[in-house]
Amino acid sequence: MLTAGAAMLVAFSQPANKTTITTSIKDSVIYGKLPADSGFEKTIKGKQTHLFVLKNKNGMEAAITNYGGRLVSLLVPDRAGKMIDVVVGCGSIDGYIKAGSSYYGATIGRYGNRIAKGHFTLDGKDYSMFLSNRPNSLHGGKEGFDRKVWDAKKIDNQTLELTYVSKDMEEGYPGTLSVKVVYKLTNNNAVKISYQATTDKTTVVNLTNHSYFNLNGEGNGTILNHTVQIDADNYTPVDGTLIPTGKIEPVKGTPFDFTTATTIGAHINDANEQIKKGGGYDHNFVLNKHGFTTPVATVKGDKTGIVMKVYTEEPGLQFYSGNFMGGANTMKYGDRDGHRTAFAMETQHFPDSPNQPQFPTTTLKPGQTYRTQTMYKFEK
Ligand code: BGC
Repeated sequence: MLTAGAAMLVAFSQPANKTTITTSIKDSVIYGKLPADSGFEKTIKGKQTHLFVLKNKNGMEAAITNYGGRLVSLLVPDRAGKMIDVVVGCGSIDGYIKAGSSYYGATIGRYGNRIAKGHFTLDGKDYSMFLSNRPNSLHGGKEGFDRKVWDAKKIDNQTLELTYVSKDMEEGYPGTLSVKVVYKLTNNNAVKISYQATTDKTTVVNLTNHSYFNLNGEGNGTILNHTVQIDADNYTPVDGTLIPTGKIEPVKGTPFDFTTATTIGAHINDANEQIKKGGGYDHNFVLNKHGFTTPVATVKGDKTGIVMKVYTEEPGLQFYSGNFMGGANTMKYGDRDGHRTAFAMETQHFPDSPNQPQFPTTTLKPGQTYRTQTMYKFEK
């Protein structure tokens, strides 16, 4: 008989049958600790990692690890009622460590996206950070929130609360930042992520989630035939290092026009200067509206019919089409993370805002509370 941990290992190490992914995380491993050999139990700098599973009343399951606050898998019903894992992730903490610079499923901070040349001034003082994506700093520096072991508290079967205290000058950022991220798997088939942060000195904050999705299921080819609609008439063009030029330009007449549903592959290889700079889509869209009344983006998997609607209170959305994925990592069902086999929809403030005062501010002062919510809702 398999132990709970062994069941988990089997679930995450067998290559999936390409058309019938039926993998499910056994009830028995849900709320307890997994055995040490499960791949998700590891001690890092004296702190313990685990895998937590949330379940809603429709049988949807979200697995989250407190290593980097990462969404590991998300089982969503397709048109036929089959459960499809739409989040591309690793099968162990070691897998995530190896794939570090891809930020699979991670909570990103203290500053999501790029800061030009890893430098900004705040209240007249200069701050420098590690150039994690030369010549810029990307996703929090050398050891961002994606590589921290968060404190985790299961609130109920559908809610996980993660907390982390980032010390003053950690990764070069001023102020002790106390962060709370709550994942909730709702009964209307959404993963809702609520972020909260306070600081004791003026600082900058831009938190996001870096889940890579494939709505046909992890390991089921590229995302080029997925359709995407983004409610953005404008985007922020970038320089050759993916830093916004500072201009806000219309998407109309460009490959960035997703105002009506278009396949990701339709213009991804166009002879367009911005497409070339990103190696595909790796750009911030200026959302027409934000809030939870209408989705800012809608994506549909061509093989499963699974639809993901993105809601956010953030002003921007980084649409990343997995251009830097190159097959270097083996993912949880044994498939390689090949070129463009997943996409990310990172809700956020605009890249490089600390250096671009015309963009919505990312400054957080003592006494203020940073609060923002994003929701990935699934329909079929
Ligand atoms: C960035 C990409 C980067 C990817 C993985 C995205 O948020 O925009 O340029 O390659 O994260 O690090």
